[in-house]
Amino acid sequence: MKGIVYVIIAVLLVPCAALSSGGQEARLDVPYVQTEDYIVDKMLGLLELRSSDILYDLGCGDGRIIIQAAKKTGIRGVGIDIDPRRIEESRANAIAARVDDRTVFLQQDLFRSDFAGATAVAMFLLPELNLRLRPKLFRDLKPGTRIVSHNFDMGDWEPDKKVFAGLWGDGLHYIYFWVLPANVSGRWQGYYDKEEWTLTIRQRFQRIEGSLSVNGCTALPLTDMTLTGDTIRFVARSGDPNRRIVFEGKAAGNIMEGLVKETSGAGTVWKSTRDPATANPIE
Ligand SMILES: C[S@@+](CC[C@H](N)C(=O)[O-])C[C@H]1O[C@@H](n2cnc3c(N)ncnc32)[C@H](O)[C@@H]1O
Repeated sequence: MKGIVYVIIAVLLVPCAALSSGGQEARLDVPYVQTEDYIVDKMLGLLELRSSDILYDLGCGDGRIIIQAAKKTGIRGVGIDIDPRRIEESRANAIAARVDDRTVFLQQDLFRSDFAGATAVAMFLLPELNLRLRPKLFRDLKPGTRIVSHNFDMGDWEPDKKVFAGLWGDGLHYIYFWVLPANVSGRWQGYYDKEEWTLTIRQRFQRIEGSLSVNGCTALPLTDMTLTGDTIRFVARSGDPNRRIVFEGKAAGNIMEGLVKETSGAGTVWKSTRDPATANPIE
């Protein structure tokens, strides 16, 4: 009788074991394909890494992007991959390259992982995955974080740069580069030259346009508007064609601070605050 019970338990356990080892067979959202080393070099070049950077590779494969970056620029890096075999390889490769003190490899699903600490991000996924990931990038990353993607874009979020990477295997390869923009949309108020300035900014990703009203009336169009991370620049022209007012500053949450410069002169510190209720999603 005892023997029969053991047999029944063993039969029940076999599928469980198969399931748990099946659990190790991670479900990949994108298959494992390595980025060629010379393309990795071009990706790192676009990121312009400094030793203070923290680079994440989302779906890190054998860890080559993080390891190459750590070796060449001294950055710290984190590789995330859902497949435990890739994480094992990455850790072994980091030890062999003597960068294991500056690199960490985590077996995680990139859609559930925390990469808010990144200052730079690399990825080689698929177009639909980039699009699925995009809201999380905007939610989690700090403005100014640089992002490179081997071969795949992010839909209607236009890249700041698109660079030809080379002819490789299945055809032409490109690298896409973005700087994650701050959200500067909405209505901002501050004083300049004893006049009340109200800036109204409309924004879609890093593209911005807007107008400036002075003391609640004249609405001047703003020109040459750029936003790179948290750095904003624009030009306001008054009725006087010789008067050109250039603003350059940084936005942090609901505060924007910087310098206003007229055609001549050293510039005046300018600070404005945004009514939070006027900010819109930019993604
Ligand atoms: C195309 S490979 C890129 C590898 C490496 N970044 C490179 O460029 O050489 C994509 C990697 O993403 C991993 N992956 C697939 N789905 C994932 C997910 N949901 N979370 C984390 N990694 C995933 C795969 O295991 C694979 O190693």
